[in-house]
Amino acid sequence: MAATNPAFDHLQQIPLYVPGKPIQEVQREMGLTRIVKLASNENPWGPTEAVKARLIEAIRGSTTEGVGLYPVSDGFYLRQAIARRKGVEVGQVILGNGSAEIIEMAAKAALLDGGSAIVPKHSFAIGAIAAQTAGGRVIETPATATEVDVEGILRAVQPDTRMVYLANANNPTGVRVNKDAVAHLVRILREDILLVVDQAYAEYEAPGAFPDAAAFLPERDKLIVLHTFSKIHALAGLRIGYGLGSLALLAMLERVRSPFNTNHLAQIAAEVAIQDEAFEAFCREKNTEAREAFGAEGEKHRCKVTGDAGNFLLMETIFPAPEFFKDLLQHGVIVRPMHGYGLPQHLRVSLGKPEDMAAFWKATGPLLDNHGCGCC
Ligand SMILES: Cc1ncc(COP(=O)(O)O)c(C=O)c1O
Repeated sequence: MAATNPAFDHLQQIPLYVPGKPIQEVQREMGLTRIVKLASNENPWGPTEAVKARLIEAIRGSTTEGVGLYPVSDGFYLRQAIARRKGVEVGQVILGNGSAEIIEMAAKAALLDGGSAIVPKHSFAIGAIAAQTAGGRVIETPATATEVDVEGILRAVQPDTRMVYLANANNPTGVRVNKDAVAHLVRILREDILLVVDQAYAEYEAPGAFPDAAAFLPERDKLIVLHTFSKIHALAGLRIGYGLGSLALLAMLERVRSPFNTNHLAQIAAEVAIQDEAFEAFCREKNTEAREAFGAEGEKHRCKVTGDAGNFLLMETIFPAPEFFKDLLQHGVIVRPMHGYGLPQHLRVSLGKPEDMAAFWKATGPLLDNHGCGCC
């Protein structure tokens, strides 16, 4: 009889992350050429020409850079550019192969000796997956499609709690907690617990208007604030994100970071992107326009749409979302059914270019008009 490893049995209980369907897969399966992908909250407006030019230069290579050489292991130059933009020290910036990898690093560090992690219901899936694969136990706290209960997080704390994950704004619900709630959590949560505040979509809100948890870094040693280059910076394919934290905390995370975890092309592209505030402002404006247009179109079809933040919306359907998703696929439109997030009648729709949204409504409008939406 084959020997069993209890860890593998444990791993089988942990849900797999289900990514958005890739365009090529839908083309192959459906035999369609024109596909509109609104499934992974990517930014359709980039990357910029400046980023592309820098990438081409690096691919051509020189004596100091090229794809044949290892990258700078800790991404010093990009960290320096981020530190400058964010007004922190270089040692307060850590890079990840996507911000998802930093969630994993945080969980690996905080839960090395076991314990529990608190994750609100309907949160971005990697928070709970990372905690479990690090050997932790997940405590799910109350949340709805439109609200996160911060008091519920504080009430759920156990003696063995080592980490709290809060996505602000959350994906897929688009729920954002306000500055008072962030301040309350930062100040009341037991000091030894690592608080991970994931701000992947922060840049979609006007600077100054967003309840940035980084404002509390001087107050809390065990706080890490995450950002990504995958969203407003339009570099999802390069896999790069960053975390801001105290010098002591990041020195600890450095012990669980794989050497060379971010590649050279990602580092140099991100270095250009982080300095381009005009592109961010442009994308923010386009996103606001797309959000308003979506709301207006949704109303025409008497459709319930929620989500206040980010580059996506949540749409309630009267029949199961996976069926709705399949119907849209037939029309070459890829969205994300949210049953895996405990929202069986919700679709998440990323905000694309006007022509992509027009294709979405052309396929969706008749389905809603024939079957109705969540509200009526
Ligand atoms: C809230 C949130 N955090 C993190 C991520 C992961 O982003 P990255 O591409 O940086 O790994 C996503 C991706 O969609 C997200 O929605």
